[in-house]
Amino acid sequence: MKGTAIATPNIALIKYWGKRNEKLILPTGNNISFTLDEQLATKSTVEFSEKYKQDELWINGKNYSNPEQMKKSKPQLDFIREIAGINTKAKVVAESLVPVAGGLAGSASGLCAQALAAAKALNLRVSKKQLSIICRIGSGSACRSVYGGFVEWEKGESPDGSDSHAIQIADENHWPEFRCIIAIVEKKEKKVKSRAGMKKTVETSVLYPKRIEYLPLAANIVRNAILKKDLPTLLEATMRDSNNMHSVMLDTWPPIIYLNDVSKQVINSIHDFNSEGIKAGYSFDAGPNPTIFTVEKHVNEIKNVLKEIERIKDIIVSKSGKGPRIVEDHLI
Ligand code: PMV
Repeated sequence: MKGTAIATPNIALIKYWGKRNEKLILPTGNNISFTLDEQLATKSTVEFSEKYKQDELWINGKNYSNPEQMKKSKPQLDFIREIAGINTKAKVVAESLVPVAGGLAGSASGLCAQALAAAKALNLRVSKKQLSIICRIGSGSACRSVYGGFVEWEKGESPDGSDSHAIQIADENHWPEFRCIIAIVEKKEKKVKSRAGMKKTVETSVLYPKRIEYLPLAANIVRNAILKKDLPTLLEATMRDSNNMHSVMLDTWPPIIYLNDVSKQVINSIHDFNSEGIKAGYSFDAGPNPTIFTVEKHVNEIKNVLKEIERIKDIIVSKSGKGPRIVEDHLI
């Protein structure tokens, strides 16, 4: 009862920040992402066996098996065990090229790889929709990693979460020139985890209701711009959404601040770069690392802009990923 899968992170163009149901991980609004290629992939093997007395999680050789560290992994394993009608404990061994909790969407690739590997281990025939729901139970953003290209997480209406899953807006061949540039400023684990942070925002931010109200409009703009390959419209909406999310974070009590001086420098440099027309669009998750969306012909110019900024340690340029896949070389 062993399965192995590779999944990649996704970066949101319209962000997910806040739930209407904490246990089922149901978001307050639709959100939209771009799936990355395998440069930052996570490979995960899941083995269900009577020889394991407790669930175990190992990432890059390090033991992450205490309850706090298994907060995302365990509910997903429980959910999948319930579907399969078993109680058997599991060992999960992952190799990740994404820094853990560094605000680089590592949980999306990790929990998507775990979901697919576990389904394979148990020989479950799951549709993409079911796989997306299983991913969601581990980590909200993971539900978008089940597809390549551009993906929307439909928030759904049903209280049981059965209609809250990802759909594909356009596959990886729709806009082959589209790129996501990831600049690494910080690989350290963030102090406020996204789960705790977004809960506080929903509870305390006075600006947050305005965000929920504006999200459907923003999602429409982004979805249409993707379908029309309208780069300036897409990038403006993306930057504004990142700024909006980081505003409600700051408006949270106590305030949550993920952006640092380097992040702010990137914001200013990209606006300077865009002074004669929008060619690059920044976006920040729950961390200071910038991701810059663009198309291939502008990549070198943008890299030169980023190289001027001292504390940027590494730059990765990603094309669209194709979504997760099952592999046969197990890690256990
Ligand atoms: O599902 P989580 O805990 O990885 O939430 C991530 C939320 C953001 O990365 C900040 C935004 C997003 O939509 O990916």
